[in-house]
Amino acid sequence: TNGTFLPIQNIQGDILPLAVSSVGMKKQKERFVFFHINDPTRFKGVLKTYASANITSVATLVSPPSSQPLAFVNVAFSQTGLTTLGVSDNLGDTQFASGQFADASGLGDDINKWETAFKGTNIHGVFLIGSDQDSYLTAYNNDLNELFGSSLSIVYTLNSAARPGAQAGHEHFGFLDGISNPAVIGFNDPLPGQTLALPGIILTGRLGDGTFTRPSWTKDGSFLVFRKLKQLVPEFNKWTIDNAVQNKAGTLTVQEGAEFIGARMIGRWKSGAPLDIVPETDDSTLGADPQRNNKFDFAHLTSNLISDQTYCPFSAHIRKTNPRADLADANTINHAIRAGTPYGPEVSAAEAHANTTQTDRGLAFVEYQSSIANGFRFQQVNWANTANFPPLKSVNAGFDPVIGRGTPRTAVGLDPNDQTKSYTLPDFVVSNGGEYFFSPSISAITGTIAA
Ligand code: HEM
Repeated sequence: TNGTFLPIQNIQGDILPLAVSSVGMKKQKERFVFFHINDPTRFKGVLKTYASANITSVATLVSPPSSQPLAFVNVAFSQTGLTTLGVSDNLGDTQFASGQFADASGLGDDINKWETAFKGTNIHGVFLIGSDQDSYLTAYNNDLNELFGSSLSIVYTLNSAARPGAQAGHEHFGFLDGISNPAVIGFNDPLPGQTLALPGIILTGRLGDGTFTRPSWTKDGSFLVFRKLKQLVPEFNKWTIDNAVQNKAGTLTVQEGAEFIGARMIGRWKSGAPLDIVPETDDSTLGADPQRNNKFDFAHLTSNLISDQTYCPFSAHIRKTNPRADLADANTINHAIRAGTPYGPEVSAAEAHANTTQTDRGLAFVEYQSSIANGFRFQQVNWANTANFPPLKSVNAGFDPVIGRGTPRTAVGLDPNDQTKSYTLPDFVVSNGGEYFFSPSISAITGTIAA
């Protein structure tokens, strides 16, 4: 049903992924260009023509490869960006209106770890450029610089890229990413186990958007949450070795036990295979099979949803951020589309040897939703950072061992043989800050924002 009723020629392409296990835009390489507007009048003049020719829609991305551009470009604006451009409407989203810096402590971030560029509200917008080749990214970026000239200043650039070889599609800890995203009614059919979301969960102004008072031009846009999440990979690897767990038969080597506790922290093995289906051994065929790798909900006939973590810990990252049967599969409004990409180099031999990160790497985290409070923020604050979530369990889950923030940072259930054991974890993911943006429809860019 691709695009049967949503106006996909008017929706920015990064918002709706083509299918699970793949991202909408070809972005083996992606560049985030954060900018500040110096001259609103001139900026608008350029944007109007630039946007109608260059902003890539969902329709373009579902068209045959021969008709696709060498690179895609999307654009999104912060609240101060819209204000600078003379758009004074209230978009109806509190977090967006105040910006992410004002929300930093609410998210559990340490402000001292934020990149200077993200502190405050100086960032007015971001261009997302994606391609399969660096040279095209550079060419499109040069084009932007030339056209917009001094009407804007670039305040921060982040380059991300798929990891090399067999690690392509995997985030830096080694786990396959981009498996579970909701299917959007009117855009794609759900795969087995995939949540079916009303379009308004993701797109503003569509059926399912709980806010009724938005200006009409915001229809078919989406709030873009950007976070630069640094990952301490050698430290993560060392911790899993030091805390290796055993299977029931007691046959695992230390390395296998390290893989096992790592998988229990995520809720999937590195291949993507869910622990809820294969609790003791990775199954790479299952991990790569979109017909099966999302078909689970943590409920089992033979195991108790209240007390048994034999399959998947209550605290596992994918259970914290999508509790499925723990909330009777009723949490559809808290879904969002994830579209992040990894940044930074592979772990060097020296880093692996020292068990210490020396070069910055992590996840350029991107999530789209019609309400930041219901989507990203709910997942981070109400779930990952809330020790007694999922609720009504025989034991408090503690925090999400990957992204949860809490003092001390405890997580329970990681040892399958001692399911009430509590671990105090160091940080493996450090937020370097980010911003809340609105990614408007293409007609809103040309008709309202650049008008
Ligand atoms: C799923 C890693 C940050 C929300 C996943 C998966 C991995 C992963 C490996 C499983 C693959 C999949 O289901 O697509 C990471 C890492 C992060 C990170 C390494 C930080 C560096 C976040 C943040 C949020 C989040 C900040 C939201 C606050 C989700 C959600 C899912 C997910 C909603 C899908 C769960 C499901 O539907 O089963 N993540 N993630 N993640 N993550 Fe993250």
